[in-house]
Amino acid sequence: MELIRKGAEAELYLTTYKGRPAVLKRRVPKRYRVRQLDEYIRKTRTRREARLLERARRAGVPTPSVYHVDEERTEIVMQYVEGERAKEYLLRTGDAGLMRKIGEHIALLHGNDIVHGDLTTSNIILADTGLHFIDFGLGAVSTSIEDKAVDLVCFRRSFVATHPEIADAGWNALKEGYGRYPRAPDVWERFEQVVRRARYL
Ligand SMILES: Nc1ncnc2c1ncn2[C@@H]1O[C@H](COP(=O)(O)OP(=O)(O)OP(=O)(O)O)[C@@H](O)[C@H]1O
Ligand SMILES: [Mg+2]
Repeated sequence: MELIRKGAEAELYLTTYKGRPAVLKRRVPKRYRVRQLDEYIRKTRTRREARLLERARRAGVPTPSVYHVDEERTEIVMQYVEGERAKEYLLRTGDAGLMRKIGEHIALLHGNDIVHGDLTTSNIILADTGLHFIDFGLGAVSTSIEDKAVDLVCFRRSFVATHPEIADAGWNALKEGYGRYPRAPDVWERFEQVVRRARYL
């Protein structure tokens, strides 16, 4: 198997599943964590990621199909999504308008009570068949406006750091798209509170 990426918590390999191109994501042990806790964290995130990938797709947000989950080995085999990541696309083109589509997708996630937990432009792949969201291991099912606001505060932080040139135009476009979520005004109100609170800490 070809290693395609060694991320912060997982190794990703290119493989095949029943003849189809696939990605194997294996969460690797972290030596600085107590072994039992480490295993628990890896298993929980593996299970959570598989469940949320499916739930997001049912909500209308494209995600890679989950082909196989092995909780003991903390591995997921999923569909390989061919395409450029939003990160590289935005760095290459400066097309802030893409953020509107991303906002619409997040509106669908939040509208279906899915909090992603790690929204970044590295976790979105632009495929011919639409924007695909990946990396749901820190996500959750939640009805809480606070959780949804925090999801966006984290995204804003990473977005501004990665794409400073289009920070304002991109974020305004995202807000337009996110407006499709009926409770968007409540989330933005809470967003401001969370940002203010964070400044005090
Ligand atoms: N299903 C997939 N199809 C194509 N590429 C993928 C797929 N899943 C992951 N990748 C690639 O591998 C990278 C890392 O995957 P992922 O974000 O799930 O792992 P991670 O360990 O959380 O990584 P990071 O620490 O970078 O967030 C993605 O940014 C993407 O480039
Ligand atoms: Mg990632």
